[in-house]
Amino acid sequence: MSVKVAMLGCGTVGAQVVRLLTEQADDLTARIGGSVELVGVAVRRPHRHPDVPAHLITTDAAALVESDVDVVVEVIGGIEPARTLLTTALRAGKSVVTANKALLAEHAAELFAAAGSSGADLYFEAAVAGAIPLLRPLRESLAGDRINRVMGIVNGTTNYILSAMDSSGAGYAETLDEASRLGYAEADPTADVDGYDAASKAAILASIAFHTRVTAADVYREGITSVTPADIAAARTLGRTIKLLAICERVDTDGVESVAVRVHPAMIPRSHPLAGVGGAFNAVFVEADAAGSLMFYGQGAGGAPTASAVLGDLVAVSRNRLVGGRGPGESAYAALPIRPISQVDTRYHVSLDVADRAGVLSSVASVFAEHDVSIAAVRQRGRANDASLVIVTHSAPDRALRSTVDKIAGLPAVHDVVSVMRVEGEEP
Ligand code: HSE
Repeated sequence: MSVKVAMLGCGTVGAQVVRLLTEQADDLTARIGGSVELVGVAVRRPHRHPDVPAHLITTDAAALVESDVDVVVEVIGGIEPARTLLTTALRAGKSVVTANKALLAEHAAELFAAAGSSGADLYFEAAVAGAIPLLRPLRESLAGDRINRVMGIVNGTTNYILSAMDSSGAGYAETLDEASRLGYAEADPTADVDGYDAASKAAILASIAFHTRVTAADVYREGITSVTPADIAAARTLGRTIKLLAICERVDTDGVESVAVRVHPAMIPRSHPLAGVGGAFNAVFVEADAAGSLMFYGQGAGGAPTASAVLGDLVAVSRNRLVGGRGPGESAYAALPIRPISQVDTRYHVSLDVADRAGVLSSVASVFAEHDVSIAAVRQRGRANDASLVIVTHSAPDRALRSTVDKIAGLPAVHDVVSVMRVEGEEP
């Protein structure tokens, strides 16, 4: 028996999928119990793919999807035409393997409904953290456990930039230029540096972990464009470093559960395992009731690593088709409410330049007290005419922390708010 595969897109990832499919054809056949036959590759510019046999290339993606194929592999990215093509394929009973995080983060419910209507499979391991097996463990291996938190570094570009800023002390713009020159950042890095890519991945992770529909619009998002050398230096002084974190949490408030999902830069202790994740790597912590803490680490981007995840899904859906079975569908039964960032407990690090005179520390501290924010640590260092004041708080609602910082910035004795950054990891 043979499984006929159509591929939509043939960029960096797609080219590696074609290579692996060709090179490993015999092994894949043995593992699946039937052969996988690539019957068409839809691209926009046919002349750009000399490595793909010419008879497979087409520019008509819609016709390819509607032809006699069993599985559609989508590596185009973006919402349209991928959304229409995949919905059509799923409704027609064709299994889909996709690496499209933006599409899954916005339209997973629609895609799962289309898959459910025909009994087709929808697999998307490559959409989050490249090669790292993460969605299958969450969807299947941990399906009997209760996940409370998923936290990690899910964007390689921003991790490369922050790691480089940390080691060189250079500014954001300069480091982004270097990352672009070296090929670590895209020509248009907006989706990465503004946190959209990480927010899509966080939405997908939270949906699976908490059996709740979470879309990209539900994710609080801050990118790394405002991280300054002063923030990095402040973190270093405290034995910390700055990472762009995706944090998905189950929150229990007086027995009422909700889900909070956020992406923002945060200071973490240098001793934290995520602090050692350098360059373009990804790493994700999962905390579950029975399993305890698990860490997943590896290459989160790139052609071959992402193609590895696509091939793994292709093997799974092909096996399912040959035995007449089906993988997991959508699991959104918990339908937990989304908690806005203003109501999420976080911790802040605040670094200020203040006048060095009697009563200043107490005036600053009283603003924290007014907002019911408890201070965990204070460090003051006098200079010629002013002083540097660093405050790290205990957990408090983000709204209270923000209001505190806004009010402190307006105090006459505060010359400058040098750095404000959320803090994750152990309590100071
Ligand atoms: N651009 C992403 C990153 C990889 O830098 O991690 C694809 O999601």
